[in-house]
Amino acid sequence: MNILRNAAIIGALSVLTFAGASAIAAEDPIATRQAIMSSVGAAAGLGGGMMKGDVAYSPAAGKSAIATMRAASLTFGDFFPEGSDQGKTGAAAKIWEDPDGFKAELAKFAGATEKAMAASGKDGPADLEAFKAAFGPVLGSCKSCHETYRKKN
Ligand code: HEC
Repeated sequence: MNILRNAAIIGALSVLTFAGASAIAAEDPIATRQAIMSSVGAAAGLGGGMMKGDVAYSPAAGKSAIATMRAASLTFGDFFPEGSDQGKTGAAAKIWEDPDGFKAELAKFAGATEKAMAASGKDGPADLEAFKAAFGPVLGSCKSCHETYRKKN
């Protein structure tokens, strides 16, 4: 593990703490990955709300949504050990049957968040148009992974 990766994990965990998802047992990979995805859902809600105009845009909020996505994209894939397909999880068996395909979806997600981070600069995307350009592709990476690697309800 390098320093950047540790920083990303700390980032993800502080985001989770911030989101109020307390008492996450690190030994419970299912709870951990679900909490990471909950933070992704919250960031999508914030970012999507600003894109639709339901929430006033601010560069700091834009950066927060992007940074949450970035941290999640770097950490989420670490919480799928063998055997964690069993239990209360929405993760599809396909993750373990086709690990390369799952890795490709993770890489797509991480690629989108990397570009969004680069576009957001120190203070966040300057205006809503810049935010949309950075955040749109991140939101575009949810569906293809869920379609194949998340159980249908
Ligand atoms: C690389 C694959 C992948 C990507 C990309 C991805 N997800 Fe997920 N998501 C999953 C899997 C797998 C689960 C089920 C996890 C479990 O229950 O163990 C999940 C679960 C969720 C959940 C439910 C969390 C909970 O509390 O159980 C939400 C909300 C969610 N995803 C939102 C999103 C959004 C929004 C995006 C895009 C910004 C996204 N996801 C991108 C794979 C992905």
